[in-house]
Amino acid sequence: MADYKITLLKGDGIGPEIVNQAVKVLDKAAEKFDFTVEYDEALLGGCAIDATGVPLPQETIDKCKASDSVILGAVGGPKWDNQPGNNRPEAGLLGIRGALGLFANLRPSVIFGPLKSASPIKDEIIGDNMNVLIVRELTGGIYFGERGTKLVDGEPAAWDTEMYSVPEIERIARVAFDMAMKRNKKLTSVDKANVLESSRLWRKTVIEVSKDYPEVELNHMYVDNCAMQLVRNPKQFDVIVTSNIFGDILSDEASMIAGSIGMLASASLSEGKLGLYEPIHGSAPDIAGLGIANPLATILSVAMMLRYSLNQNKAADAIEAAVSKVLETHRTPDIYEEGLTKVSCEEMGDLVCKAL
Ligand code: IPM
Ligand code: MG
Repeated sequence: MADYKITLLKGDGIGPEIVNQAVKVLDKAAEKFDFTVEYDEALLGGCAIDATGVPLPQETIDKCKASDSVILGAVGGPKWDNQPGNNRPEAGLLGIRGALGLFANLRPSVIFGPLKSASPIKDEIIGDNMNVLIVRELTGGIYFGERGTKLVDGEPAAWDTEMYSVPEIERIARVAFDMAMKRNKKLTSVDKANVLESSRLWRKTVIEVSKDYPEVELNHMYVDNCAMQLVRNPKQFDVIVTSNIFGDILSDEASMIAGSIGMLASASLSEGKLGLYEPIHGSAPDIAGLGIANPLATILSVAMMLRYSLNQNKAADAIEAAVSKVLETHRTPDIYEEGLTKVSCEEMGDLVCKAL
């Protein structure tokens, strides 16, 4: 029997290409660090709609639950834009997060030395080691709240609800404080407590939880100010904890500061050890099948999986080091710079394997 059972949700667009490269790297790491991996595939998103009529078939949930971890490519594309809201590929993504209880989404924004010039932010502002970890609540808030459409004064109107309970805030806050303890012991809680009731409860609860973490320096920031501070002085941040929707927005912003959205990995964790690992970018239907997608975010997601779900820290470190090394000389088109060698998605996967 293999040491680890991994379910692959390749998804749509560039999903299959990038997951294939990540699998190659994982296999290489397994060989090198002496463990075995067995894969199973399941459908999520548009490909699942095409095959079964729904974006998240029950079989997919069952397979994920029976595995040690899940690797996801990306879902969605223009082909499914006319699906009703609750049957869109994205609904499948939210569905799997909910079904697996993946409440904690870790999105590290790290600058790889060789990629510094890819950041649109000036060198002196990013410094040499920008490293922000966004901890995004992932199974609550407005993404999962009550919603609907109705007529107001005879005109169509629509509504969504942002709601957080104390236990939901407490558990995500604990994840963030635990992460801060392993890093630079600084936590910024982001909310909109000057306007939203749910944010006022968020802030109060985070302050309560902070009493268990006296070593962590906690501060609070309104989300609009945080969006500004991220480009003004990203070095001030260590760990950021925030709600589902604020985390969605701020993590895209933070990824761009780090150079390219094609580089950033993420981990979605549950109360148990089951985690789901995916790049933070989308399915990029415009370049799907061209072989030019950047597989590094997915490869780095595998490194996160090895660290957070499989307890293979050495393999995780080795993959990150290999990526950094390859970036010195080779680039996919999205991060290409004059003088370096331009490579395809597959070549990038091969190079990382070789550097391992
Ligand atoms: C993300 C994505 C998803 C989200 C979309 C595709 C539903 O933007 O993972 O950040 O909003 O959570
Ligand atoms: Mg997003």
